[in-house]
Amino acid sequence: MSSSLSFFSLHENTNWKQGHKNVRKTAGQLIADRKSLDRVFIRPDDENSKKTLVKYMEQILFGLHDFLNRHVGVTEEISINELAKSYMDVTISDHPQKDLGQVIEEIIKDVAPKAVNVASPYFIGHMTSALPFFMVHLKAITAALNQNVIKMETSKVLSVIERQVLAKIHCLIFKQSQAFYQAHVQNTRTALGAFTSGGTTANMTAMWVARNRLFPPKDDFSSIEEDGLSKAMSVHNTDRVVILVSCRGHYSLRKASGILGLGNKNIIALDIKPDHTIDTDKLKQTIQDLKQGGRTKIAAIVGIAGATETGTIDPLQTLADICEQEQIHFHVDAAWGGPILLSENYAHLLSGIERADSVTIDGHKQFYMPMGTGMLYFKNALALDAIAYHARYVNRKGSVDLGIKTLEGSREAACLILDASLKIMGSKGYALMIDHGIETARAFAKKIEARPEFELVTPPVLNILTYRMVPISFRKKMETAQGQDRKRLNQELDEINIRIQRIQREAGKSFVSRTRLKLVPEDDFMVVVLRSVIMNPYTTEDILDDILDEQEKIYHMF
Ligand SMILES: Cc1ncc(COP(=O)(O)O)c(C=O)c1O
Repeated sequence: MSSSLSFFSLHENTNWKQGHKNVRKTAGQLIADRKSLDRVFIRPDDENSKKTLVKYMEQILFGLHDFLNRHVGVTEEISINELAKSYMDVTISDHPQKDLGQVIEEIIKDVAPKAVNVASPYFIGHMTSALPFFMVHLKAITAALNQNVIKMETSKVLSVIERQVLAKIHCLIFKQSQAFYQAHVQNTRTALGAFTSGGTTANMTAMWVARNRLFPPKDDFSSIEEDGLSKAMSVHNTDRVVILVSCRGHYSLRKASGILGLGNKNIIALDIKPDHTIDTDKLKQTIQDLKQGGRTKIAAIVGIAGATETGTIDPLQTLADICEQEQIHFHVDAAWGGPILLSENYAHLLSGIERADSVTIDGHKQFYMPMGTGMLYFKNALALDAIAYHARYVNRKGSVDLGIKTLEGSREAACLILDASLKIMGSKGYALMIDHGIETARAFAKKIEARPEFELVTPPVLNILTYRMVPISFRKKMETAQGQDRKRLNQELDEINIRIQRIQREAGKSFVSRTRLKLVPEDDFMVVVLRSVIMNPYTTEDILDDILDEQEKIYHMF
């Protein structure tokens, strides 16, 4: 390809507006024509063009990296309302407005600083954090290859790799025999799991499978997918289908129940014990109550391995016993906690997960992958048949395409990113990050307890904890307050903690999130707590001290 046709070298041969070296001199000169389309689509292969391409990649990698490293703070101090004012124009220009170099520069200078620097070690509020730098390279590879793992025709080896990675993680969870994996890893008639777009769609798919398996063929009813829910329920003498989970369950389960036509009221949010895990006695009682009359079916019991708000883990062995005895689908939502299995020191916390029927794990959480990857695993390699769909143009009957058994249609080859990352990090590399998070959270809990103006609300089982500020002036009153007085004092504390969290967030140096929890299960009210998620390996104990200092300072400035 000649360099004069190249999109990139053309910049060097063209005159640019003063002060904007990337914009042509004559007004409105970027033209959308066949020539410029060629420049965009045809990869440059002459030396100059390659250099320009590399320069742009450097601009992205180092420009953003410099920004992420330089800005210790989390974000610029500017309100979302102010920002919105700059993003009101809804016109699409006829011709190109900017070239690639200019767009990259603008994103680095104008967008990134107003985004949230989730890479900051002071960002300890959500399940999103810094990524190992190589993730950017791996993401670029999947974009460059642009494989669609919905079908072999657009992915070929990537579909085979996907099966291999799924089997690796399946083995981490379910620890089946080598013979089992050799039988299934590349067996196109079975599926050990599926990559999804996130934990929500993984949970949704799990509930979809559980619901469908609840209604086997009977009389003239063939399947719920074909005949619909009302026929399924009438043929199977069912009035109601429920899913049982503790009140710590993620709200994606409610979405799933809504979409599946079960009604999200039929997600029964069970009581928890003081340690925020499901009360299994109440669970057993609920199952017995629901069985009365024989017209309610339980589609699944969901155990949580790393609750979103508290990081707590349900007693998975006991749940597995109950599910086994009652013949109920046992799903473990390990969207957050699943990768703990890679840590020799802490894998035991998930004991019982291997007895699940299905397991959700997010890639974009503790596998430290870029946004957009979840996974769902089934112990039974035929379970996903319950949601198989075919189309004439793709995923035909008898075809080997993985897209037959996924909620999503087109999917990125996220398997390549996870596979590469597992190779680069090894389980020990992941364990370093996981152990750091858990141990730093434990140290943080001690710091909170040592400060007279803070109260630890939920200690960390994993790397999530909650706490709140209880100023000294409240302490004495709180010790003796009962009933409405106690409620009122807690409401005052809520206001204090909301204000602290808001001011700290808006100041933009550090970030913890907030939620509401019951202090003890018997309470008829919830209190505001500050929530911290420690997953950045560079979040040190000193940084945590800074964050607490800042919160104290904010309170004393009220
Ligand atoms: C326990 C749990 N399950 C499911 C989800 C949903 O995951 P996603 O946001 O990837 O859809 C989350 C997200 O925070 C979660 O914490």
